[in-house]
Amino acid sequence: MKELVVSKIREGTVIDHINAGKALLVLKILGIDAGTNLTVSMAMNVPSSKMGKKDILKVEGMYISEEKLNKIALISPNATINLVRDYEIERKFKVRPPEVVEGVLKCPNLMCVSNAEREPVRSIFYVKIEENEVSARCHYCGRKIKDLANHII
Ligand code: CTP
Ligand code: ZN
Repeated sequence: MKELVVSKIREGTVIDHINAGKALLVLKILGIDAGTNLTVSMAMNVPSSKMGKKDILKVEGMYISEEKLNKIALISPNATINLVRDYEIERKFKVRPPEVVEGVLKCPNLMCVSNAEREPVRSIFYVKIEENEVSARCHYCGRKIKDLANHII
């Protein structure tokens, strides 16, 4: 039998199959912080047949844009999005990593112009998937990063 950890929602966005432990980082990527007025529920380390363990986020009353949601693929390439209307799933899709991300990742190269103390520029990274692993390369200095979860701004 399937247990329901968090209640179903009437209207909004369900982000399912998030890598276990990454839900807080997903909220950060979506720009949802302590000041939010949205009704948000979160389940962490829930048992999953496909993934062993997973996180789930439910944001009520809001359809988050696909562009924003796709950034989740940087840290959880298997996340699925369910857009819910009147308790029914209206649309289900998998996140797809964007080719370029701006202002999301921090370059670890301290000499990079994106980290300049006086005049930092907005970070730009080119995203690549190789053997199911997501990596990214800095537009300014060429530094390649893996484990993108450790480089979210
Ligand atoms: N969900 C919800 N509110 C609804 C409908 C669905 O919160 N009104 C949530 C479910 O709890 C689940 C997700 O949306 O976390 C996907 O629902 P569903 O497609 O019914 O589940 P699965 O078949 O298990 O999904 P998948 O095939 O993507 O694993
Ligand atoms: Zn750089």
